[in-house]
Amino acid sequence: MPESYPVATTADTAPQTTTASGEAAQAEQATPNTPFYRLGGYPVMQAIVDRFYDLMDSEPAFAELRAMHAPDLGKMREGLTGFLAGWAGGPRDWFEANPGRCMMSVHKPFTINKAVAGQWADAMKQAIADAAPGNDLAKTMGSVLEEMALGMGR
Ligand code: HEM
Repeated sequence: MPESYPVATTADTAPQTTTASGEAAQAEQATPNTPFYRLGGYPVMQAIVDRFYDLMDSEPAFAELRAMHAPDLGKMREGLTGFLAGWAGGPRDWFEANPGRCMMSVHKPFTINKAVAGQWADAMKQAIADAAPGNDLAKTMGSVLEEMALGMGR
């Protein structure tokens, strides 16, 4: 996680006015109105990703998915959080640190069957329900990620 990044303010969730000025306009400039900030920024994204890998590491239902990953999940906890941050309109550190890497290239070495794609989607939806309860935008992100994951299964 970068040392500093804009922090969401109430201005992000307040209805937009046509005459934004003064403090509201400054806050709007400081904090982009993107899904990443609106759902709670790094603390929420990191909590979801940590729960995702905790579930993958402990639930027998996700054993096949777990077996595809390196024994140490530390790199993925950082990597997936960084990827999702940039993907959802937050800081793009992961993309800048990994020029040219994309969803296709990171998964090229793996054969992803439909069952394991379903495990990814289920673990992510469960992680969001556990780590960000009541966060509608996080739930919506879970539905989008589910579609992506299921689309990767062959
Ligand atoms: C469909 C089921 C999926 C499977 C089976 C899967 C599996 C994997 C595996 C095995 C790795 C490498 C792990 C390691 O080196 O220990 C990986 C890396 C990665 N996956 Fe997936 N993945 C899936 C879906 C997704 C989705 C939906 C996303 C994001 C929307 C995603 C984002 C990433 C990223 C960003 C990395 C690389 C992180 C880094 O190296 O910094 N994956 N995935």
